[in-house]
Amino acid sequence: MVYVSRKEHFNAAHKLYNPAWSKEKNAEVFGPCANENWHGHNFDLIVTVKGMPDPETGFVIDLKKLSTLIRKQVIERLDHKNLNLDVDFMQGKLASCETLVVEIWKILQPEIKTISKYGVLHAIRLYETPRNYVEYFGE
Ligand code: NI
Repeated sequence: MVYVSRKEHFNAAHKLYNPAWSKEKNAEVFGPCANENWHGHNFDLIVTVKGMPDPETGFVIDLKKLSTLIRKQVIERLDHKNLNLDVDFMQGKLASCETLVVEIWKILQPEIKTISKYGVLHAIRLYETPRNYVEYFGE
């Protein structure tokens, strides 16, 4: 099995805030991430597809096609947006990296097979900062 990854980038604003809680409890649990007037991150998104190479091309997936797919389906909907307010698939959800990575998986997983005969989505890794990242493998 060969694992092929593509990294894309976006900037977005958010806050971590549970509307069911008081302002004080949000501040206690989320600290400065609950700041009412938002804060931003430079996110890196790494999408990994696994499979055996197509005997006709030697590719598991064409990385140019994968890049175009990620940009069109995900990056354009997130870049320079407010995750809490602007992003349709994040409506009503907590704007954490963990939530975001699961939603990105739901979008990309069925799309991968439209551009690759041999590859399936293996993992999504989302860096919120160079030191903090989350990963999702679909379960
Ligand atoms: Ni944050």
